[in-house]
Amino acid sequence: MLKGLGRKITAAPVNSAERHALVDDLLIELDIHFRIEDDLYYPALKEATKLIAIAHAEHRQVVDQLSVLIKTPQTAPGYEAEWNSFKTVLEAHADEEERDLIPAPPEVHISDAELEELGDKMAAKMEQYRASAVHRLRTKGRAALVRAL
Ligand SMILES: [Fe+2]
Repeated sequence: MLKGLGRKITAAPVNSAERHALVDDLLIELDIHFRIEDDLYYPALKEATKLIAIAHAEHRQVVDQLSVLIKTPQTAPGYEAEWNSFKTVLEAHADEEERDLIPAPPEVHISDAELEELGDKMAAKMEQYRASAVHRLRTKGRAALVRAL
């Protein structure tokens, strides 16, 4: 999802309405990604402490890079370089999670029933967050969304 959006943004012309709309979508999806993982998925995987610590640190890194990107207008000379740095950090994080944390690593003992319950909870929260992130974006703008990440 995040990597796909990253690719679409890269393909859209800089400073086009399409690119701005896709960046807004990315902000919303990132907001959801962080909340779902930090609040639900990582705590359920708490036996894998080292991997979780790395994932948390990476979330911080993505947020730092994102705040620099959002402060750089698409018309600024350094914009493309900022976008590429952000995309690299984002993709590295997504790849690492896909490799190490999804599915849950072997040191995590979680039953199928627990996993199913967790999945349902995550899906429900995702819907809830999606609605509230869209709301925040419309009412308060990107800065408010980035500050909340
Ligand atoms: Fe993540």
